[in-house]
Amino acid sequence: MQAAALHDPHPTRTTPRTDPTVEDPVTASDLIVDPRHRTDWATGAVLGDGVETLERRVADLAGVFADGAALAALDPELLVYRTECVFPVPDGTEGGLFWGTTFIQPGRVGEEYFMTKGHFHATSDRAEIYLTYAGTGLLVLMSRDRTCWAERMSVGSTHFIPAHTAHRTVNVGDDILAFGASWPSDAGHDYASIAADGFSARVLRIGGRPALVPQ
Ligand SMILES: [Fe+2]
Repeated sequence: MQAAALHDPHPTRTTPRTDPTVEDPVTASDLIVDPRHRTDWATGAVLGDGVETLERRVADLAGVFADGAALAALDPELLVYRTECVFPVPDGTEGGLFWGTTFIQPGRVGEEYFMTKGHFHATSDRAEIYLTYAGTGLLVLMSRDRTCWAERMSVGSTHFIPAHTAHRTVNVGDDILAFGASWPSDAGHDYASIAADGFSARVLRIGGRPALVPQ
């Protein structure tokens, strides 16, 4: 993977129906169609129709990081993370699934690594799966009794996020951390609980290395 492509904020949205160098072994038929979406396995980019993007910049993350003065010193327009998601059914549909990729930029706010806001699911008994495409990170998990732990994320790492468990991802590397997620379409997001009470631990740079530090 080229480093420049990893940092491309606007990956190509179209993909060929088939690889032109490979003969299609499938018998032509109106009953067999191409998928509407593809994932670029090297970058995590979600390709196809109707991909919805969301960006979180420094200005969107007040109160998320421990060092408010360090956050205020950064360019408010600096991109921290963004998502590319597919919502094939309406939000709240029971029995459906959503999926997408999150890309977290490398960086820190003071000694705290760039990370997502984190959430419980609004429908708390819904689980989720993550799969890392690029970079290195930590998946921070917190149960309802505020017990906090983390799993190491690296290319290919696959993570089951249990029900009733808050989750946040942290980029502890020097390149973009890209990971795919799939979650039930009736899970929803409870950001308010984290905004009010936070996680019970933060990922800080201690002695040049990331550490999960109880708060
Ligand atoms: Fe989630």
